[in-house]
Amino acid sequence: MSAWIKVDAPADLAPGEVVIARAGYQEFAVCNVDGRLHAVSNRCPHQGGDLGDGFLEGPCLHCPLHGWAFDVRTGEPAYAAQPGKIKVYKVKVEDGLVWVEAEEG
Ligand code: FES
Repeated sequence: MSAWIKVDAPADLAPGEVVIARAGYQEFAVCNVDGRLHAVSNRCPHQGGDLGDGFLEGPCLHCPLHGWAFDVRTGEPAYAAQPGKIKVYKVKVEDGLVWVEAEEG
């Protein structure tokens, strides 16, 4: 069952920035694309790299390890030849805190 879970990402994350956000054992990559927050799985489907340590190029989040990239709005791979997809989560800012809708853990 999913619920809104408070994560430790800064609510004032600047456009173009990405961070690893944690809630219990769960990790997300929280990104600011053009002033809007997005949350995706932190785990790269290639070899488990931390996507939150990567970088954004527009809506595309690049893994820091081998360059796979994903559109954080959809979770789809950024390149046609690249396999894999990442999970996308709803995210909101409320009372100055960042919340992600995910399975309670
Ligand atoms: S672990 Fe992400 S591209 Fe290899």
